[in-house]
Amino acid sequence: MKGVVLAGGTGSRLRPITFSMAKQLIPVANKPIIEYGLEDLAEAGITEVGVIVSPETGGEVEAAVGDGARLGLRLNYILQDRPLGLAHALKTALPFVGGDDCLMYLGDNLVKDGVRDVVADFQEHRPNCQILLCPVDNPSSFGVADLEPDGRIRRLVEKPTVPPSNLALVGVYLFDGSIAEAVDAIRPSARGELEITDAIQHLVETQRTVRASVVSGWWKDTGTKEDLLTAQELVIPLVAHGIEGEVTGGRLEGAVHVGRGSQLVDCEVTGPVVVGDDARLTRVRLGPQTSIGHGCRLSDAAVEGSIVMDGAEVYGWRLRNSLLGRGARLHGAAPAPFVEVTLGERSEIVG
Ligand code: G1P
Repeated sequence: MKGVVLAGGTGSRLRPITFSMAKQLIPVANKPIIEYGLEDLAEAGITEVGVIVSPETGGEVEAAVGDGARLGLRLNYILQDRPLGLAHALKTALPFVGGDDCLMYLGDNLVKDGVRDVVADFQEHRPNCQILLCPVDNPSSFGVADLEPDGRIRRLVEKPTVPPSNLALVGVYLFDGSIAEAVDAIRPSARGELEITDAIQHLVETQRTVRASVVSGWWKDTGTKEDLLTAQELVIPLVAHGIEGEVTGGRLEGAVHVGRGSQLVDCEVTGPVVVGDDARLTRVRLGPQTSIGHGCRLSDAAVEGSIVMDGAEVYGWRLRNSLLGRGARLHGAAPAPFVEVTLGERSEIVG
């Protein structure tokens, strides 16, 4: 089985961060989102992976993720010249897939339990397609499944105004070779894209077997800042452990990771919190649910429920539910209460 990981798209709901970085590279608990999916593939024994990239951010994704060797993968970068939808992206990958089975994983999705079980289930039952579903509060934002009482799929519909159920399609799909005909048969949707949901609906209509299962753990699509921060809340307790840096004075409570070469002086840390490598924090109240990237500088500040990316600096500010791009700076006379800030890469606010 081959893997196909989608890493294109414009990330329009995550501007200004996505003006200067691919959304799949945004760190969640200090790891680019896409790496969670790639690790899931490796864990499921899938080693040949096509990464679909856009002309705008492909170079950056390739530079950051590399050839996959450190993850035990062989990554092949495949250019999708225009953002014409998920089914179009898969179509672009089909020469790479070469008629094999494939698992398509959206590079901005996080699935707690990984994909090992669904791969095993697919290999045991050999349907033409297998999808994962997850109950959500806002099904209209996703592809939605309408199921028969016995669990078989009646219909799949993309972003319905009146959703037939609360079961959203997770961004993980398994296909055999029959998907090639389906992606050719469908026409663009109202948003002008070839929808993967429509391609799978075509499989349903042409009496192919489409098997569905509901995910047992959580699933998160990270399209917005709120989604990213929630994703981090879900992931961070799993990775926040180990003090490799130097902690002097202050207090650490709960699950905390401090990376190599980092120094925390007189900080009050309430986990789960991760601090990357080579960061310097002095008199900072940190956490919970917070990640501080590599090489950050913070002093006389407080940060909770936030993502602070590599090289950012915060002096005197108190932040909550915030997203600071790489090298962003907050300094000067800070506003007195906690504030919520989204600041793009290398941008600066002087209070
Ligand atoms: C896409 C799919 C949708 C699916 C979602 C999962 O939506 O079109 O069916 O439920 O991914 O993340 P998009 O992210 O393109 O809005």
